[in-house]
Amino acid sequence: MNAKRTLGWTAASLAAASLLYIERDGIRSRLPAPTEPRVRTTYRYFAHVYNTVANLFLFGQERPTRRRVVALADLQPGDIVLDLACGTGRNFPYILDRIGSEGWLIGFDYTPEMLQTAQQTVDAQGWRNVTLLQGDAAQLSREQISAALPESSEGVDAVISTFAFCVIPGWEEALQRAANLLKPGARLVVGDVKLSQRPLLRPFNLLADLLGGLAAGDLGRQPWLRFGSLLGDVTFEERFFGFFYVASGRKQR
Ligand SMILES: C[S@@+](CC[C@H](N)C(=O)[O-])C[C@H]1O[C@@H](n2cnc3c(N)ncnc32)[C@H](O)[C@@H]1O
Repeated sequence: MNAKRTLGWTAASLAAASLLYIERDGIRSRLPAPTEPRVRTTYRYFAHVYNTVANLFLFGQERPTRRRVVALADLQPGDIVLDLACGTGRNFPYILDRIGSEGWLIGFDYTPEMLQTAQQTVDAQGWRNVTLLQGDAAQLSREQISAALPESSEGVDAVISTFAFCVIPGWEEALQRAANLLKPGARLVVGDVKLSQRPLLRPFNLLADLLGGLAAGDLGRQPWLRFGSLLGDVTFEERFFGFFYVASGRKQR
């Protein structure tokens, strides 16, 4: 009897959670949008535990997503790469592995505490071709990037960004500015978390939404829908039951 009742309650709760996320065009987060002060405060504190909890928090999808993003960026030895909202620099080893010591990596983020952890890794690894910049991705300028490079360049060979577009408050502007920095033929690749649109998995959007909210993220954003107006050769793939995605595009020549 008790088992029946538990099953009944579970089914009712899943159905109720599912109803919360039924929409015709995309799925919006049910949480208030993260404000800039909230993002800043969250990552000031997260910086101290980020490297320890990231993979767990991302259900083991952290490394596969980073690998896929870097693979799609089509990096070559000697390339200049911008890691936008780089956090503690967890993409750096994957990028440096491809661009080698003759390439250049710029890590850009606006939380000093996240960048401090990134700097510790850079120092510990002895990477000499990495510049860390602090700033707001929504105000990113070509001048800022040029000043961080050892030689003048007409742009960057790739911009990658992971687990950040759901967080960046002015993400639309950040996307536009990132695309503007690309050399002709260069790629922009974004990997991130999102709500799932698969009908059977909708109840789990509540959990995803709450976890995303803890990290000051809005999982209802759909940055890939803007890629087509900024870039060519756009690709979009869903991963892990539709809760993750990787999107890419190429600056037209
Ligand atoms: C979830 S962390 C992801 C960090 C890193 N990209 C990774 O894959 O581990 C989100 C990062 O976005 C950064 N961020 C949020 N808004 C930003 C903005 N407007 N400009 C630059 N960085 C921003 C935060 O400081 C934080 O480091």
